[in-house]
Amino acid sequence: MYKKFAVLFVSIGLLSGCSAVENTVSDMTQKITKTETATSAASSEKSLTPAEEQQLKKEQEHQAMLDELPDVSTADWNLLLVNNEKPIDPDLEIPLTTLPSGYMIDERMKEDYDHWLEAASKAGFNIVLASSYRSVDLQQTNYDSSIQRYIDQDYSEEEAKKKTEDYIALPGGSEHHTGLAVDIVDDEWLDTGKGLIPEYDTQDSQHWLVDHMTDYGFILRYPQGKEKETGIEYESWHFRYVGVENAKYIEKYDLSLEEYIDLLTEAGK
Ligand code: DAL
Ligand code: ZN
Ligand code: ZN
Repeated sequence: MYKKFAVLFVSIGLLSGCSAVENTVSDMTQKITKTETATSAASSEKSLTPAEEQQLKKEQEHQAMLDELPDVSTADWNLLLVNNEKPIDPDLEIPLTTLPSGYMIDERMKEDYDHWLEAASKAGFNIVLASSYRSVDLQQTNYDSSIQRYIDQDYSEEEAKKKTEDYIALPGGSEHHTGLAVDIVDDEWLDTGKGLIPEYDTQDSQHWLVDHMTDYGFILRYPQGKEKETGIEYESWHFRYVGVENAKYIEKYDLSLEEYIDLLTEAGK
């Protein structure tokens, strides 16, 4: 009878989210301790079920991730999170610098960005900017013209909106408003006229950029497999500056920026 109740309790714990899971884990730990010191009378309770073991392992890994977080804050300028659900604060002043190409980026990331592209150039890739800082007005223009383009191709208004929003953030919700995002490709790819499409990742230059991005503080912001977390389809050309420390951690644990910010928030950082 007691065992039935224990199983029921654990099942409820497993079903009811993080803190309940953490309770369950401490319950399991107690169970193990109790079992280790128990007499043969209690030996029917000796081992965890596979599901319990898996849950325990998951929670231990989660704790290890929390313990390994760098000493940073979600309030840091380079961790500014902007997405459709978290539009940019219109009063935020961003220190922009204008590059020789005429594009603007946040001046605080310029040195790392320049070094990254210099290294790419030494490796034989001439990387060019296709877009960086964008005002909310410009995003609105891009957004509206994309919808119009789809409508001109005979999509319904609803479909046109949906297809646009796969790749174009709502005005105000674009990371390009931060000045910390760059859309980059190599000059040969640009010359093909194929533009910013996921297949840019068939190019050696894109592989080189991804292989070296974290050394310069960049992440691929909309990776494959994280569409649910980011709300945006895979963009092989859109890189985001977060600083070396954050970038290394994000790469190691294969996180989206959204997941990383959630983790920092959970850790009270
Ligand atoms: N393409 C990205 C999601 C943007 O519009 O900001
Ligand atoms: Zn937790
Ligand atoms: Zn972009």
